[in-house]
Amino acid sequence: MSDAAPAATPDTGAEPRLVAGQRAGEDAAEASLRPQTLDDFVGQRGVCDNLRIFVAAARARGEALDHVLLHGPPGLGKTTLAQIVARELGAGFRATSGPVIARAGDLAALLTNLEPRDVLFIDEIHRLAPAVEEILYPAMEDFQLDLIIGEGPGARSVRIDLPPFTLVGATTRSGLITRPLRERFGIPLRLDFYAPAELETIVARGARLLALALSPDGAAEIARRARGTPRVAGRLLRRVRDFAVVAGADLVDAAVADAALARLEVDRLGLDAMDRRYLSCLARNYDGGPAGLDTLAAALAEQRDVLDEVIEPFLMQQGLVQRTPRGRTLTAAAWRLLDLAPPTTTTTTTAAGAPVGDLLASLAPDPDGRQAP
Ligand SMILES: Nc1ncnc2c1ncn2[C@@H]1O[C@H](COP(=O)(O)OP(=O)(O)OP(=O)(O)O)[C@@H](O)[C@H]1O
Ligand SMILES: [Mg+2]
Repeated sequence: MSDAAPAATPDTGAEPRLVAGQRAGEDAAEASLRPQTLDDFVGQRGVCDNLRIFVAAARARGEALDHVLLHGPPGLGKTTLAQIVARELGAGFRATSGPVIARAGDLAALLTNLEPRDVLFIDEIHRLAPAVEEILYPAMEDFQLDLIIGEGPGARSVRIDLPPFTLVGATTRSGLITRPLRERFGIPLRLDFYAPAELETIVARGARLLALALSPDGAAEIARRARGTPRVAGRLLRRVRDFAVVAGADLVDAAVADAALARLEVDRLGLDAMDRRYLSCLARNYDGGPAGLDTLAAALAEQRDVLDEVIEPFLMQQGLVQRTPRGRTLTAAAWRLLDLAPPTTTTTTTAAGAPVGDLLASLAPDPDGRQAP
């Protein structure tokens, strides 16, 4: 079984961040932590329950499973689930990704080599070339391939029958998928950020697989800072393990985990140095805003896409930054986090300098216990 082509971080030129959900080079090690079955897969209950039923039904009928579209932010388990689906179906797994399939012929070669009921996984499916996407439509719908052979007046079209197969598409940007493609997926599934308790289970499981002695409060400490994302949890766990080895700690408890993560500059909310640089730039250079995205990007020497898609979503989810029509502004909670007094002209209502305990309480995850980048 081949692993999926890496859905690498969009080439933003930013230095790799420990707490980013996107896949980075060092994440090659994460394959060893991948759950192998639906029972092993922690969280995403609704998604897993649905898959269990559809897989059982397809197996009972001896048919290929309907096409599945997995969407959700990076690092939540899309590739992992695709592999699990193939395994639970007892079918073969072929993986590729949207940008890799340059020409219609590439896709034709992949499709004609499938065995009946195989799973074809296309990562980053929103990045398929239009010409490729078009030959995918009849392949998904009727298991037929319409190819044009030759060029000019001598060109002729041939129709090839394909074995029935299951396409599993994954995307972090479902808004970019064309409607005809989206409509051809019978089973669209959305992955959500994980609740802290689920991440704790994932961290504890990871520690077992890495043969690391981790106490429950140590697992909770790591889970809390993982931004609702298993990939981040796994990465923090591996770094804490390195730290524990060097420090000679036999058991990783909350204190050891806390010391390691503080050393790595990941704070108690999962904010890293980049997040804090963003907040303090907005506070100190622009009196807490409003400041435009381009202005901030220039001041921080970052690309605007990185701010827009990677840094700001988590800060907004944590209630630290707001996007307004006039630009980005800091919230009262952000001024408290920075331990700075907001300028008197802002509309901030809460007194600055509240104790950190207050701050953490005010930034607690929303009522259903989810955290999100
Ligand atoms: N439910 C889970 N339980 C345990 N570990 C998980 C779970 N989901 C994901 N992981 C871990 O997180 C890592 C990242 O998951 P995966 O590669 O499937 O994410 P993805 O959604 O495909 O990300 P991308 O959008 O970057 O492709 C996996 O290697 C696995 O170790
Ligand atoms: Mg993936």
